[in-house]
Amino acid sequence: MSALNKIARTLVSNRRGILAADESIGTMSSRLEKVGVEPTEESRRAYRELIVTTPRLEESISGVILADETFHQKLTNGRTFPRFLEDLGILPGIKVDTGAKSLAGAPGEKITEGLDGLRERVAGYVKGGATFAKWRAVITIGDDLPSARAVRANVHALARYAGLCQEGGLVPIVEPEVLMDGDHSLAQCQQVTTSVLESLFEELDLMRVQLDGIVLKPNMVVAGTDSSERPTVEDVAKATVDTLRATVPSSVPGIAFLSGGQSPELATQHLGAMQQLDPLPWELTYSFGRALVGPALEAWQGDEGKWAAAQEALSERAVANAAAR
Ligand code: 13P
Repeated sequence: MSALNKIARTLVSNRRGILAADESIGTMSSRLEKVGVEPTEESRRAYRELIVTTPRLEESISGVILADETFHQKLTNGRTFPRFLEDLGILPGIKVDTGAKSLAGAPGEKITEGLDGLRERVAGYVKGGATFAKWRAVITIGDDLPSARAVRANVHALARYAGLCQEGGLVPIVEPEVLMDGDHSLAQCQQVTTSVLESLFEELDLMRVQLDGIVLKPNMVVAGTDSSERPTVEDVAKATVDTLRATVPSSVPGIAFLSGGQSPELATQHLGAMQQLDPLPWELTYSFGRALVGPALEAWQGDEGKWAAAQEALSERAVANAAAR
């Protein structure tokens, strides 16, 4: 077993999943503001400390994805976040993309940036204790969207990122997110997700990415937020697993879903229903952001006295998701 394969397997096995705590400074700041916390370097640090010091987190969480700011910050006990996670038996990860920007020639569509200097940044993160990385591409469904050019540009960037991470010793989490925004149907989401994943695996093959050393982080196949369709939990589970069976080679050790704006409870129910669709050729787990930490953030509100209640809210979601597996 290669070192990359071992890390990838650790991330997705034993009923554990990955916690995405890698919101950019801008996104994290606006989420803090929404719950009445002044967004500062220190409040972002304190919130991340609340998350990683949640009791028994390591029983349901295999890895935590950190943002660059957090990666270099320290807990009150003086340990850096990656070293503290390591001590707990949780793998530290790092978001290495620098965000989605408008794609020239493609109105309404985005390309994720961050390839320049990535080889050197990967080396620095490995030194700091990172074992895996994340890069998120976003694909929009709309009138005549996604365009072929946006899909091609994004899967190309994902494949080059994945190659650079593997070369430097990090397992790449490969995240092509088909957004829930819009009034599209479940069938449209399935069709777009299928074609994005097909293009992605062609590109990963072209760039010689070792498939047994990645974790795929896709969206679940759902109807758009503004769609009048209300698919059942079973409909979503079946459409998602059918799509993945048709596109994801069995050499990929695991698939860890993003939550994408689904409610925490629904995301967990969907994950649970998918486990019933045996046999699955890969591990299916969670790599949620909002669906894991949303309730904790709301409970905390920056109040020291609500620290334990917030940790309990996170614990509840983490345990529910582990049970759904
Ligand atoms: P959500 O689960 O909130 O969609 O976030 C997951 C993630 O890491 C997005 O890049």
